[in-house]
Order: sequence, then C-alpha cells, then structure tokens
Amino acid sequence: MKKNTIVFLFGATGDLTRRKLIGAFKSLFVKNHLGENPLIVCISRRDLNTREYLESINVDFNSPFGKIFKYVKMDFSNPSSEEIKKILDSFITRTEGNFSQLTYLAVSPDFFINLLGVIKEIDISPEHRIVFEKPFGKNLADAKQLNTEITSIFSEDKIFRIDHYLGKELVQNIFTFRFSNSLFSSIWNREFIDSIQINVSESLGVETRGGYYDGSGATRDMLQNHLLQILSLTMMDPPVSLSSEDIRDAKVKLLNSIKPVEKSDVCFGQYSEGKIDLETVPGYRSEKGVSEYSVTDTYVAWKLEVDNDTWRDVPVFIRTGKRLAVREAEINIILKPPREKILNHLIPDKSNNIITIRIQPSEGIAVRFLAKIPGPEMSLEKAHMQFCHPCHFAFNTMEAYELLLYEALSGDHTLFTRWDFVERSWEIVENLLKYRNIFEKDFPNYSAGSDGPPCADSLTVARGRSWIPLLDFSLTID
Ligand code: BG6
Repeated sequence: MKKNTIVFLFGATGDLTRRKLIGAFKSLFVKNHLGENPLIVCISRRDLNTREYLESINVDFNSPFGKIFKYVKMDFSNPSSEEIKKILDSFITRTEGNFSQLTYLAVSPDFFINLLGVIKEIDISPEHRIVFEKPFGKNLADAKQLNTEITSIFSEDKIFRIDHYLGKELVQNIFTFRFSNSLFSSIWNREFIDSIQINVSESLGVETRGGYYDGSGATRDMLQNHLLQILSLTMMDPPVSLSSEDIRDAKVKLLNSIKPVEKSDVCFGQYSEGKIDLETVPGYRSEKGVSEYSVTDTYVAWKLEVDNDTWRDVPVFIRTGKRLAVREAEINIILKPPREKILNHLIPDKSNNIITIRIQPSEGIAVRFLAKIPGPEMSLEKAHMQFCHPCHFAFNTMEAYELLLYEALSGDHTLFTRWDFVERSWEIVENLLKYRNIFEKDFPNYSAGSDGPPCADSLTVARGRSWIPLLDFSLTID
C-alpha cells in the first residue's frame, strides 16, 4: 500500500481496539502497509490526552509506532467533527494529497447512525473505506434502518461490514480446500456426505460485556454472522468467478436455499454455575450487567436442511455457546458408509470417515478413516491423516483483523459481508428465536464447563446421529 493512510478509529478505548485492532495496525505499520506517513486518530468518550491513551493500550509514546497516534475525545451521543476535520486538513497538507482514508466504527451499533454525519464531513478521499464492526443492527428492522441510512450517504463500494471469522485462515481454507482438490470436490455432495456438523464452542463467558450480551445472546451474537458465514462457505455452489460479487452471490444463494425453521429443529440454552479448568465460574444470571431474570440464550443448536440438488436430505447440525467445556471451532463432514458392504460387519459405528476442518485452536484439516490393526486378525481402528496449519505456515500467517484491515485498505470486499447476506441472516435468526420461549422456562439448562444442554443431543439422536466429540484428537506434529 503506497499511499499514506489516515485512520479514524471510533471506539478507541473499547475492548476490541485494545485486544485486536491495535496489534493489527501495528503489524500493518511495521510491514509498511500504511504508507510512509500514516496517522491513526483514536476517538473515544474518555477524557485523555494522546500520551495517557497510549499508556492505556500499552504503546510507547516515543516509539515509531506511538508517534503515529492522536487521541480525540468525543461524545458519541452528540458528536462534533470540528477537531477531526482540522486533523484531516493538516494531514492532507502534510502528505500533499497523497493519502487514503479508513474509518473504523468499533462502537455499539446504537451509535452508528449518530456518527454518520461526522463521517460524511471527513469523507474526502475517493478511497475512503468505512468499516462497520458487527453486530450490524440488533434485529432485522434495526439492521434495515441502519442500512438505509448508511447507503443513503455512502456508496456500497465504501462500506465494509466486518465479520472477523472471514479473516481466519482456516475459514478461508474451506473455499480452497473444496475447490482446488478433486479428491474432496468430487465427494462434496449428498451422494457421499451423510451429514455436516459445525461447532463453535467457547469456554469464556460474557467477560466485561454482560450489558451488551444480555440484549443479544448466542443466536444474534454468533449464529447470525460467524456460523452462517461458515455454513455458506461450506455448502455454497462453486461461484461463477473469483470476483467478490460472484462469491457473495453464491453465499446468499445458499442461505436462500435453507428450508424454513421448524420447532423440532432448535435448542436454546443458558448456563448455570459450574467448573471450568477446576475453577468455579458463576451462572449467566450472576454475570455483571446481566438481569437476574434473564432469558437470553447463551447457547443455540439448530438442525437445518438445504433444499437444493446438491444437499437435499443431508442434515446439518450447527451449534454455538458460551462457558462450554472447551474452546473449539470445527466443521465435520461425515461421509456415508462405503457402497461396498464387504467390511460392514467390522465397521464400529457410523462416524468413521470424517473430514474435519478445525478453525481453532490448533488449526488444520484432518481426514479420519479406518485402518487395519496390525496382526493376523481382520479388525479395524480409527486413524487420521492430518494437515497442521501452524506447523506448515506459521511464520507468515496474518491475524484475522490484520488481514481484514489490509483487505479493506485494498478495497477488496470479498471478505466482507454484503447487505443481502446480512438481511437474510437476520430473517433466519428471527425465525429461530420465535421458538426460544419453549426453552426459557428451563433456563438455566446447562452447567458451565459441560457440553451444553440436553436438547442439543436430542436434535442429533432424533435423526440417528450424534455430535462428534470436541477436540477428540490433536492436530500437532506428533
Ligand atoms: C465475537 C462475539 O464476534 O466473537 C464474542 O461477539 C465472541 O461474543 C467472539 O466471544 C469469538 O471470537 P473468537 O475469534 O475468539 O472465536
């Protein structure tokens, strides 16, 4: 990236900025992707000067990286563009007009609309990229209103709706794995695949975000975006081309082919007190910022079907939740038993031949299969072949946010969510949430540190399947 970049980072004192964005910008700066003379204008409500702000995010004021920051205090309920406009004007003079702009809204969507006027005032460069952190709206109606307001001011080519899962290497590998290997592309259909499972479990609770999370829940916080993105990449038809529009068309088409949600296809949960890594952790209703009567879901599982020629009758089970036994994000493609019946009597159960794409932790891909146990007897045992991603590529892997910022700066929309995907995903979520009240009377219905509520098992058992155990093998160099 040759041009000097000016970044306006709204929500600069928030958790996301501290945990992910500063590190991502540092990496881009070190690699010279922000140009020779970049500037990061950090904007937040707290009353700090630049030095104090940098201390709060552990950046040395006198370091080369520290020198590219400026902190600006702004009340997001009543924002004013005066100070940031002055900063922009002097930046334009300093760089003699050779600059590009990135604005990042790492704030609650409640403030998106408030801030649009201010962003419009600093919208100078034709290469201005405006990144909206998730969630994009709180529900369908809210997201629609937000989108109407945003698109009435900015053209779609300036808008980048972020979903950080799209920046994860193993999520991107779904596409390449499927479409660059004939071994896998040839079996990626209902003829060979018995069922699909997508699991994103977290052992963390709501941390400091109880206030936000209690108005959201697992379905809105995780399924609406990360899980539906993984699902669409896993099951979409091959796109017509590699253009961002064709890829995003294929993803939306997949979402549109999902059969309507039925009552017997869903399971919601909320955690009670329990133990994680031998430590007792509080139940959800005792978390800071959460109502003691809350019926917010901290867990959701859904059995769905895609009604098209490739996938008809293949059950797909997806689930996500907080305070589960392990942190793991994984896709399991479970293959049908072989057509030849000759070894059927030796095959221990249905789930032997599985392709596992592990997004985290210990990223990689494994093919699980049956192997003959050494010796004169004919008996079989489960084995796997593996591709350990960090062992192979570690030295040059970009973190998700770094990659997404890089792509936004390059103006490439492929890894960002188009409005029609957001709209369809909110419709799906609202249809799912219609059934949450069936489960609420039993909340909390799973203990922290467990595998989730019993209703999730019922979803698979009712279809003659079972969940693949989490992290049941490790993807490392043995
Ligand atoms: C965020 C959610 O989008 O993703 C959080 O708001 C969740 O609740 C997080 O913890 C999980 O991301 P990762 O990258 O840690 O799996």
